[in-house]
Amino acid sequence: PQPYSLLFCHAAQVLTLAGGPTDKPLTGPDHADWRIIEHGYVACLGDTIAAVGPMGELDAGRIGPDTRIVDVSGRVLMPGLVECHTHLVFGGNRADEFQRKLQGESYLDILAAGGGILSTVRKTRAASEDELLQSALHHLEGFRRYGVTTLEAKSGYGLDAATELRLVRVAQEASRRQSVRVVPTFLGAHVPGPEYRGRPVEYLDMLAADVLPRLDPAAVPFVDIFCEEGAFSVDDSRGYLQRARELGFGLKIHAEQLHDLGGCLMAAELGAISVDHCDYLTPEGAAQVAAASQGRTVAVLLPLVPLYLRQEKYAPGRQFIEAGLPVALSTDFNPGSCPSKNLWLALQVACLKMGLTPREALAAVTLNAAWAIGRQHDCGSLEPGKRADLLILGVPDYRELPYWLGENPVEQVVIGGEVLA
Ligand code: NIG
Ligand code: FE
Repeated sequence: PQPYSLLFCHAAQVLTLAGGPTDKPLTGPDHADWRIIEHGYVACLGDTIAAVGPMGELDAGRIGPDTRIVDVSGRVLMPGLVECHTHLVFGGNRADEFQRKLQGESYLDILAAGGGILSTVRKTRAASEDELLQSALHHLEGFRRYGVTTLEAKSGYGLDAATELRLVRVAQEASRRQSVRVVPTFLGAHVPGPEYRGRPVEYLDMLAADVLPRLDPAAVPFVDIFCEEGAFSVDDSRGYLQRARELGFGLKIHAEQLHDLGGCLMAAELGAISVDHCDYLTPEGAAQVAAASQGRTVAVLLPLVPLYLRQEKYAPGRQFIEAGLPVALSTDFNPGSCPSKNLWLALQVACLKMGLTPREALAAVTLNAAWAIGRQHDCGSLEPGKRADLLILGVPDYRELPYWLGENPVEQVVIGGEVLA
């Protein structure tokens, strides 16, 4: 057999995220039931994981003169983080509105007054493609330092055909220019474009007729919509998502963020791969979503958003898991409701405010996040055959990960078998 090209040995713990069911995302008791190897190794062949196990089972015959050996004594090894919900590409920022929020204005009030998402749309339309690319690359670099190795990036700040297509191109070009893999999602249906104020159905018709047919589902696998007061109703969202599905796209939805309208269940019935936000989804609603999708739709919870919007209501993640609904976690990185790339902080706040256990939260930023973007076959766990995306963490025990609040535990990031500086 071929000698390993890269070997990480003597890890205090290897968080494999493997060992649970492989045909569905983790939920219920399985959510925390993945394997930790004490004193373990991970071996790679090129860009792929070749073997994972306890040091005692390492095959010394596969260590050759060219094998690069990295001793990670006293450290934790885990899969690269999968960031499954971001609005990566946008112009400007909204520091001015943050001030207004601190003085008591609500997110939807600011949006209704033509600010919020619409103010970022004005700045995004005014930016050149290269400016948007440079900004996306800057943010990707930040994500990589936190240990993110795969990232979903939504459009949604163009809100006209040309700008929305430009945002998708920027996400694709950003993926080519650096090592974090970017999975683009089309969120043209973020809110009705300013030219379509009060005419949401006409706006969605325009997207379905003029934009979706110009996107290739092989390259842009998901279509998303913001189902909320001030954005799109459940009925309008259903019609649009149905058309997207007919064109071959996977479906996502922003729903139950600020009201319980029923968007999550509607999307799950259409086979959505994920339902995102869910702060107002009840445990009963979660059970219905889980039943409608047979545990395949992932609830992507975004705990930094209520924190940042100064809301008290957080998705009851603990009860979702108990109801059989798989949970993933993400920052929701965007200029309005969460300008943070710190997925570790999201994990920590999910433990504190949503009742996730540390093991559930770790699954939620790796394997279940991979399921939420259809990449579970190549990332999210340390298993032979998956891409060699892994993190060396400067802690000896995974229980320290939710404990050091706000800290970045990442010492080194490995993407596709490349140890990055
Ligand atoms: O996921 N909720 C809708 N959209 C984004 C926020 C967009 C913005 O405020 O710019 C979100 O939170
Ligand atoms: Fe979002």
